[in-house]
Amino acid sequence: MYQIAQGTQDFMGLNCRKWQTLEDLIRQITTVYGYQEVRTPIFEYTEVFKRDNDSSDMVNKEMYTFSMGDYSLTLRPEGTAGIVRSFVEKKLYGNPAELPAKMYYMGPMFRHERPQKGRYRQFSQFGVECIGVKSPLLDAECIALGYTLVKALGISNIKIHINTLGDQESRDAYRNALREYFAPHLEELCADCKRRFEQNPLRLLDCKVDGPKEIMQNAPKMRDYLNEASAAYFEEVKKCLDALEIPYEIDDGLVRGLDYYTHTVFEAIATSDALGSQLAVFAGGRYDDLVKYFGGPEMSGVGFAAGMERLIMMAEAEGNELATVQTLDAYVMPLSTACQAKALELTTMLRSNGYIADMDVQGRSMKAMFKSVDRTQATFALILGEDEMNAGEVRVKHIPTQEQKNVRWEELIDHIDSFYDITENVCTCGNPNCTCGKGEN
Ligand code: HAM
Repeated sequence: MYQIAQGTQDFMGLNCRKWQTLEDLIRQITTVYGYQEVRTPIFEYTEVFKRDNDSSDMVNKEMYTFSMGDYSLTLRPEGTAGIVRSFVEKKLYGNPAELPAKMYYMGPMFRHERPQKGRYRQFSQFGVECIGVKSPLLDAECIALGYTLVKALGISNIKIHINTLGDQESRDAYRNALREYFAPHLEELCADCKRRFEQNPLRLLDCKVDGPKEIMQNAPKMRDYLNEASAAYFEEVKKCLDALEIPYEIDDGLVRGLDYYTHTVFEAIATSDALGSQLAVFAGGRYDDLVKYFGGPEMSGVGFAAGMERLIMMAEAEGNELATVQTLDAYVMPLSTACQAKALELTTMLRSNGYIADMDVQGRSMKAMFKSVDRTQATFALILGEDEMNAGEVRVKHIPTQEQKNVRWEELIDHIDSFYDITENVCTCGNPNCTCGKGEN
């Protein structure tokens, strides 16, 4: 039997509806924050992700890279690089009046990680990038957007960790301090950390290998190497978060797993065990150098991405089901093959009027068809036998009240409408869990 590839998932039925609910919510929130959707390719030339001297695990160990003729291509492991590539390629930096460019995206990303609960090889991210203006207000706004989303999903079990990596000068000073500190301990570090020591000692703080914990804990702190401008920038970000009443904690050890960050970095960590271990629900930060790297002007950006699978898991763990079973308004039951074409016509008419309708197409018994009415929780059963056909009518049974009557075809929609008080926006069908879409109870 063929099997799904490790670290990937199929979604169908109710599970897809959860995704749609999440996607709708994301579109609502990004719209009120003034973000526009962007869609970039799922693969890019490898150099878009594998930038000079990149020391991150994601780039060095986890990318799905393949050659096509003379080219090396990579399935996107994250969204930021492709969006900045596109921002520069399309010269979106050209018109200052249109900056910052506020963009959001949703879609699949690919990382060859060890699969576990909440960690997949194909997963989906929702992310935002706000490029072209450097202001602590925007760093705070990004965190606020992520926070608004998790709150709207009913997720309360998270903690927002923030830190700053400062500007280039501060980071250079800090890197030197880290090299000095770790040099006598090199032999105690894992093989990866020996490479990190040379390439980017900041990465040492992100080491996932247990063991040299004490060495890590006693390592110099970034905050002691910030120059005045970087410290002031971080103070402003914190002030904005305080004003927005967003709870956060300063995490000196937070350096993030990607190399492009400067100044503010943040991660919203799940504090319940819904994800199995302490995983980030959304994470991001500011990047001062990416636009220039891709050939654009000196221009900063800030953004974050959230794992959509993790958002759904966390929301469900806190009792937000995100979707209910899709029920029908009407199930149409032709009692003989002679009635099937008319039944299809009536079903189509119901659908054109916004009702969720389906019909039997297999010529099944009345009993089997009523089972479908039960299974789909249809509000109406429409029975079409030859007597009804000859009279130009259909028998309409309102399931919650069991009332039934013959209705002329041309009056069918008015009859169904009459069960819904459209002006009051209250469903009168009697079904307390009505999802008929014509009103709400
Ligand atoms: P990241 O921290 O690598 O950042 O990923 C962001 C989020 O994607 C994580 O917090 C997590 O929720 C989710 N995620 C990552 N890997 C997996 C996985 N294997 N399975 C399930 N979910 C996962 C970025 O990707 C940056 N591009 C964020 C950013 C945007 N920074 C600035 N702008």
